[in-house]
Amino acid sequence: MDISLAHVDYRYQVNTPFERLAIQDVSIDIPAGTYMAIIGHTGSGKSTVLQHLNGLLVPTEGTVTIGNREIKANQKNKGLRQVRQKVGIVFQFPEHQLFEETVEKDIMFGPMNFGVSETEAKERARHALVQVGLSETILTKSPFDLSGGQMRRVAIAGVLAMEPDVIVLDEPTAGLDPRGRKEIMDMFYQLHQERGLSTILVTHSMEDAAMYADQIVIMQQGKVVKKGTPVEIFSSPAELVQMGLDVPEVVRFQLKLEEKWGHKFKQIYLSIEQLSAAVAEVLERGGTS
Ligand SMILES: Nc1ncnc2c1ncn2[C@@H]1O[C@H](COP(=O)(O)OP(=O)(O)O)[C@@H](O)[C@H]1O
Ligand SMILES: [Mg+2]
Repeated sequence: MDISLAHVDYRYQVNTPFERLAIQDVSIDIPAGTYMAIIGHTGSGKSTVLQHLNGLLVPTEGTVTIGNREIKANQKNKGLRQVRQKVGIVFQFPEHQLFEETVEKDIMFGPMNFGVSETEAKERARHALVQVGLSETILTKSPFDLSGGQMRRVAIAGVLAMEPDVIVLDEPTAGLDPRGRKEIMDMFYQLHQERGLSTILVTHSMEDAAMYADQIVIMQQGKVVKKGTPVEIFSSPAELVQMGLDVPEVVRFQLKLEEKWGHKFKQIYLSIEQLSAAVAEVLERGGTS
C-alpha cells in the first residue's frame, strides 16, 4: 500500500491561545515495501507526521493518500477505521496502553474490535506472541506481572495481530537496554522483509537509520529539510552536525581515518564490514600515498 503526504500542514488546538503550527508543507512519498526512517530533534514534528499515516490526525492543509483513500483538509473524512486496520502504529512506550486482565485478551482486543471472530483472534494472539519472541505460556498472565521489556513486546504483538500492511514505529526501543533494542529492531526488520510491509521508523539512533532504512527523512522545526538514501544523507556529515544531529559511529571513524591519513575514500561506508574492506584495500595497495 502506497502512502503519500502532499503539502501537509497541521495545526494543534486551532482558535485557542495554544494554537500551534506543528508541521508545515510536508511532502513525503512512501511506496509499498519502503523502510523509511524519520529523524530530527524533539518537537520537530515527527510524531505529528506519523499520526497522519493512518488518519488519526487529519491535515489542516494538504492531502494524505493511503492506498486508494484520500484524506484532505477541510472535508468530511469518513470511514477511517479501515485505514487504521491497514496501518498499525506502535506509539512511544506502547506498554502504557495495556489494560486487559490477560495478555491474550489484550492482544485479541484490536482484531476483535475490527470484527475478527474470537477463535481467529485467539489464533492471531498466539501467533503474534511467538513473532515478538515470547512464549505462549504468558498468554494467561496479567500484562502487569511482566517485565518492562516483555510488556513492550506484548503491546507490539497487539499491533501485529491486526495484520497491518504498514507498520509505523515511534521510537520503539526508547528506554530498552542495548540487547533489547537490537532484538526488537531485528524483529521489525525480519517482519518487514518476510511480509513485504512498509515500515516507517522514528528514531534517535543514526545507527538504526543507517542500518535498516532505504530512505531517510530529516525534519526540523516542522519541515522536511532533507530526504535521501542513507548513503546520500550521511555523505554530508557536516550538514548533519550543523543541524545538531549525530552521524553513525562507523562514519565518524571513517572521517577520523580520512583526516589522519589525508586520504579520502571513494564513498561513505555505513557498515563496519564495508569500511574494513575499504581500509584493507588501501593497505594492500601499500598505503595512502
Ligand atoms: N497536543 C498538542 N497540542 C499542542 N501542541 C502540540 C501537541 N502535540 C504536539 N504539539 C507541538 O507540535 C510540535 C511537534 O510535536 P511532535 O510532532 O510531537 O514532535 P516530535 O515527535 O518530533 O518530538 C511541537 O512544537 C509540540 O510542542
Ligand atoms: Mg515524538
